[in-house]
This record gives sequence, C-alpha cells and structure tokens, in this order.
Amino acid sequence: MARAAVRALTASKIRELVNEGLGNADVLPFWVGEPDAPTPGFIRQAGIDSIAAGELLYTHNLGIPELREELAAYLTRLHRPTDPGQLAVTSAGVNALMLASQLLVDPGERVVEVVPLWPNLQEIPKILGARVVTVPLEFSGSDWKLDLNRLIDALVPGTRALYLNSPNNPTGWTVARDEQRAILEHCRRHGIWIFADDAYERLYFGEGGVAPSFLNLMEDEDRVISANTFSKSWRMTGWRLGWLAVPAGLVADLGKLIEYNTSCAPVFVQRAGIAALKQGEAVIQESLQRYRRARDFLVGKLRTIPRVEAALPAGTMYAFLKIEGVSDSLAFCKRLVREHGLGLAPGAAFGPEGEGYVRWCFAAAEDRLAEGITRLRRALGF
Ligand SMILES: Cc1ncc(COP(=O)(O)O)c(C=O)c1O
Repeated sequence: MARAAVRALTASKIRELVNEGLGNADVLPFWVGEPDAPTPGFIRQAGIDSIAAGELLYTHNLGIPELREELAAYLTRLHRPTDPGQLAVTSAGVNALMLASQLLVDPGERVVEVVPLWPNLQEIPKILGARVVTVPLEFSGSDWKLDLNRLIDALVPGTRALYLNSPNNPTGWTVARDEQRAILEHCRRHGIWIFADDAYERLYFGEGGVAPSFLNLMEDEDRVISANTFSKSWRMTGWRLGWLAVPAGLVADLGKLIEYNTSCAPVFVQRAGIAALKQGEAVIQESLQRYRRARDFLVGKLRTIPRVEAALPAGTMYAFLKIEGVSDSLAFCKRLVREHGLGLAPGAAFGPEGEGYVRWCFAAAEDRLAEGITRLRRALGF
C-alpha cells in the first residue's frame, strides 16, 4: 500500500475533467494553462541543433554553466544582481516546487498558502507530510484582495514557510509591493522562509510588465527562494525546463536532491532554454500584448452575462469567474464539456475556496473565446 500521505492526496480534478472530453474534437479547450501557439521556431531549432550535435548525455546536476550564466544575467536584468552560484536548473516548475519543498520542509511542519491556488502547490508539501494552512483571498464581485493582517496572523512563529504564488493561478491576483514589504519584514523577524512561485511574473498586465518580486526586495541573507519555469514566458510547457534561485549556501544540498530526483534536465532542452533567454524578449512582449487583448475581450463579455461575476486579472492567462447557482463546479464543468463542448476548469480543483467558480484560460484566439462565450450563455440559458 502507498504511504498514508500519498493515499490522502487529492487527484487533479482538472485531469479528471480533461479525460471526460478526450476524443471529442469539438471541445473548446480553455481548461489547461497552455498557450494555443507552439514554442517559437528559434527555440525549437536550438533543441534540434543540440540533438543533431549528439548532446545526449548527462549534465551537471545544477545545469550546464552556459544556461546558469544566462539565467543569472536574465535575473540581474530583471530583478537584482544574481550569481550563477545561486541558481539550479530544474525539470520545469513543478519539479522546482518539489525540490524546494524537499529542501525545506520536514513532516509535521506548518506551511502557509494563499488560496485559491494551483493544486500542485497545495499537494506537494503534503507529500512530504507538511501541514498546510490556508489563507483565502477575498472576492468582491469585481476584484480579488488579500487580507494582509489575516495572512500575517497565520504566519505564527514556528511556521516553516510561506508558499506564495503571484500572479496567482487561478485568480490572477498579484501581491502589491507594499504587501510584499510587510510580509518580508514579518518573515525575517520570525525566520520563516518565503517560497515564491514566480511562474507568471512575465505575464503581468500592470506597469512595466513584470510582477513585483521578492527578489527585488530581499537582501542576500534573507530566507527567500524563487521558483520559475520556461513554460509560460516562452511557451515551452512540454519541454519541462525551470529553475530555482536560492541563497548560495543551499546550492550544494540542492544539487544532491537533483541527483536523486532527475539527475539533470536534458541537455538539448537546456540549449533551447539558452536560446529563449538570449532572444526571447520579443516573444514575451508579443504574448503579453496578445493576452492583454484576450483578457479585456473575455472579461468584458463575461461581465455581460447574468449570474456571472469576474475580476480583471492583473496577471496570468486565467479568468476565474463566479457563477451564481453553481455549487458543484466539477459536475457543472462536466456538463459543459458533454453538452456544450466547452472545456473550463472547475474552481473546486483549486481548493474548497474555489467552489462555485470556474477557471478560463484566455491564451486563445478571439474568435474561439467568442464561441466559448456563446456556449457558456447557451449552457446558462441566456
Ligand atoms: C502556479 C504555477 N506554478 C508552476 C507551474 C509549473 O509549470 P511547469 O511545471 O510547466 O513549469 C504552473 C503550471 O501551470 C503554475 O500554474
């Protein structure tokens, strides 16, 4: 029998739903967090060239030096002076989250998370036996807000870590700079780690196009870890490439953990990552413009539907909408797939706080989004 902590895990409700729609070509798939465009050609070519050159063996656990140097230069441009010695290359974001959790969290330790939240982030610490305490965001009908005092109160002394995903999947809520300052100060005082999941930091519609990051505020000795991924910024979900930025003193232990998890990311994937970092800025800007238009279009249309409430997300590629009268979002989404060919993710997948909501990925063409709106209206009887 599997370990009790594993048996107690919640299976992904998004997967359950996607399986429901498999084989039905007419489903509009807005349920998974993936762009509708493929990885840019120059990134694919870098991977192809590497394979053609026979680069198919193991690499250093922490990643090839050229990629760690490019990453350090990228983070230095974006946030703060960063040395390759503070970085580890991982097999995508989800692996970065697992590695950092293995690095930090002992069984029985308390971690705090702001929810609703992408299920993987909620389940990963539980695999390690941690106790996850949640602090809910509040929805006003048109906006998501953090009750900062409530979060600070939850971060009691003895808490091991705050796991914070901002911009947040599924709500699009993004932590404000002054909230970050207060959180960092509090965590510093009590020795609590801040584990920032920055997967969507480049899909931010606010000023500057980069979400506020703890990396901008921290000092070298602060207990801050940032997890990131190539998946969303450079449209590379299937490549499985990510990274961790950690205090330099943790890197050797992290290297050991990588050895015993995956040993390294494939070298040709790392070469593709270098191409993305070197020449991919235009790709990010283009995606950002496109998603901003898609966001404005979708939320504008959603707000015209009776019984539907939606915030304008500050970041990510998701709208998280509340539908009055929906009390079982998984059953509702199954019905949408089966009867209306509309694939949305059930809010309950993001924790009990998400019940009554559905998530819609708007990284899609406007005509498809418009057809989705038509189908949702039909399903709701409007
Ligand atoms: C909040 C969040 N963090 C991390 C990831 C990790 O993505 P990947 O494992 O593709 O890098 C995702 C993917 O959907 C996400 O939504």
